[in-house]
Order: sequence, then C-alpha cells, then structure tokens
Amino acid sequence: MTSSARIPNPIGLLAELTHRCPLRCPYCSNPLELDNRAQELDTATWKRVFSEAAALGVLHVHLSGGEPTARPDIVELTAHCAELGLYTNLITAGVGAADARLEALADAGLDHVQLSIQAATAQTAEHIGGLAGAHARKRDFARHVVALGLPLTVNAVIHRANIGEVGDIIDLAVEMQAKRVEIAHTQYYGWAQRNRAALMPTRAEADASIALVEEARERLKGRIVIDLVVPDYYSAYPKPCNGGWARRTFNVTPSGKVLPCHAAETIPHLEFWSVREHTLAETWRSSPAFNAYRGTDWMPDPCRSCDRRERDWGGCRCQALALTGDAGVTDPACHKSPWHDRMQALAAAESAVSSPPAYDYRVMTAAPRPMEGQPA
Ligand code: SF4
Ligand code: FES
Repeated sequence: MTSSARIPNPIGLLAELTHRCPLRCPYCSNPLELDNRAQELDTATWKRVFSEAAALGVLHVHLSGGEPTARPDIVELTAHCAELGLYTNLITAGVGAADARLEALADAGLDHVQLSIQAATAQTAEHIGGLAGAHARKRDFARHVVALGLPLTVNAVIHRANIGEVGDIIDLAVEMQAKRVEIAHTQYYGWAQRNRAALMPTRAEADASIALVEEARERLKGRIVIDLVVPDYYSAYPKPCNGGWARRTFNVTPSGKVLPCHAAETIPHLEFWSVREHTLAETWRSSPAFNAYRGTDWMPDPCRSCDRRERDWGGCRCQALALTGDAGVTDPACHKSPWHDRMQALAAAESAVSSPPAYDYRVMTAAPRPMEGQPA
C-alpha cells in the first residue's frame, strides 16, 4: 500500500476523446475492443474532467484518440482547457477533419500539434496507414500548422516496414519545419501486440536505426530535437512506463474509464473506475487499479532489491502480463528477468521470417483471437 500522503499529484492527462480514426495502422496501441461513438463521453462530461484535472494539478493535456478532430466539439474542448490554463497538445493523424478545424483550434488557444507520419515515402506510409492519399494530406497539414505559428512535433512509430526510412523520416520532419521528431520503436500493446510478428525488425536493423539517430542528433543540433524510444525487445533495461505506474500521468478512455496507462485494461484482475461515477481526485488516490502497482511495495525480486527500482519502476506491467502471464513480475525487457532471453528469442524468430504475415489492420470491431506470445 502507498499512503495517500505520499502520492504526488499527476502532471499529465492523455484524453482519448474518441477511438474513431480514418487510418488503420497495425501498430496502434489502442485496445482491440475499441469504444464506439455511442459509448463516448459527451461534451459536458469532458469539460468536467478537464476542470477536475486542472484542480488536481495537471499541467498538460494531450488531446488524443483515435483521431481527436473526429469529435465535432474538439474546438470547444480545447477552448475550455485553455481557459483553465492547461497546456494542450493535439495528437493527430492530420487527415479527416484535422485540417478544416486547425484554424479554429489555434484561435481557441491550442498550444502544440503532434502529427503522426507512417513513413517517409507515400507508398510505404499509405500501405501502413491503410488510407490512400493520406501522406500528401499530412504534408499539407504540417504546412498549415507552421503557417499558423503552432509548434510542430512529428512522430513516427518504427517497425519492420519503415525502419529503412528512419533517416528520410528525420529529413522529412526537418523539411516540415518541425521543432521535434520522435523516432519511436513500436511498443507492443493492443493492435501492435496482435501484429507483432508482422512488425518486428531484426536486431541489426534496430541497432542501425539507433546509430543513425545518434549521428543525426549531432548533425542537426540546433535545428531539430530528435527523441528516441528504444525497442524493448532488444534492450537490457525496461522503460519507466509512463514515468512509473500512477506516478505522473493517467488516461481517460473515450467511454470515461480512468487508466494508469493506455494498455492497463489488458490486466484482467484490475478494477478501473469511471469519470461517470468518481471524481478524478478520488480515482487518483483510491482507485484499486492505481494503487495496485504504485511505488515499490508491490515489487518482487529482482526489482525489490535492485538499485534501479526508483528509476524504471520495474518497467511495464502490461508488457509483463503479455509476455509472462503475470502483470506483477519484472518487465521481461530487463536483463535480470528470467523471461528476458525468451523475449529476445521471440523477437529474433519473428524478425527472421522472410515473408512476415499480412497486417491485421485496426478496425472498430476486432475478431476475437488469443493474445500472441502468452504462455499456454
Ligand atoms: Fe528495473 Fe527491476 Fe530490472 Fe532493476 S530488476 S533494472 S528495477 S526492471
Ligand atoms: Fe501499461 Fe506500460 S502500458 S504499464
């Protein structure tokens, strides 16, 4: 147990306004069971959520999805956040209604835009995103963002199909006048977990892409900041997922569930509270799901006695569950985990296949299938 006196207030909220999206990326970290439009929170409830978040100490709101501009009230919600003094970041695919709503969003006080791109070339990008014509529209959208004076970050999720384009992706971000580009190796949750065998790059490809990022960081210093999310399957240590479970940020799903991280719903024994029934302050302090893996008291060895336990907080609970069947063990991305070798062998085997399986594209209603990689 963590006593409420020791629980710091959160600083960030990822507001998943909708799961609807014009793209169908197979690497999406959204859950297989997506919320439909009828399940989404209404405008008044989202406004209350943002007001409660501001009162709780939240500083940053990431307006996300799905595609957040699919919500007709996106401008009203953004204006409400701005009035509360919240820093707003729109996480968008830049297609659908995004461009048409951009000017009104800027007028409403939007602070920052994060645009996802799928690759550097239209052919690769549109195969991954599953939408013809999307790449050119994203380039137009980026021009529009910069013309409005909004700071732009470009985000690219990296996997087998686009890992050879990392250098060109960075160049494209520079050409788009982005201030920052995130080269984010795929994290295998939700749809990405389902498509893992189709997405996994080889270790040699992963290493080459990391070296390329390091070289580009030096070369482009002062022009663009390059963030790198390293591939867990080829790492020696895990990431402090979301800065540690229920330590700094939380998510609200389209239907109003409050989660410590985007994949938490995959952990079946946890009880998640809804904004329809509890305030955010109650949920942050007392929700059973938030307290399940908060801090270090829950940790077994090797984390319990490890001097990194307050650096990475034992890694990702959702990944531990997906790969070991137990959310309460050390993330297998850690070399001290007894599952580590098995995780790396899985990646080696999947990436070695010369013809990977076809994508299972993200759709609103997924066909049931057991999670891959879980022990029998
Ligand atoms: Fe982190 Fe646990 Fe590995 Fe230590 S043993 S490095 S705390 S995951
Ligand atoms: Fe849930 Fe990492 S995604 S803890």
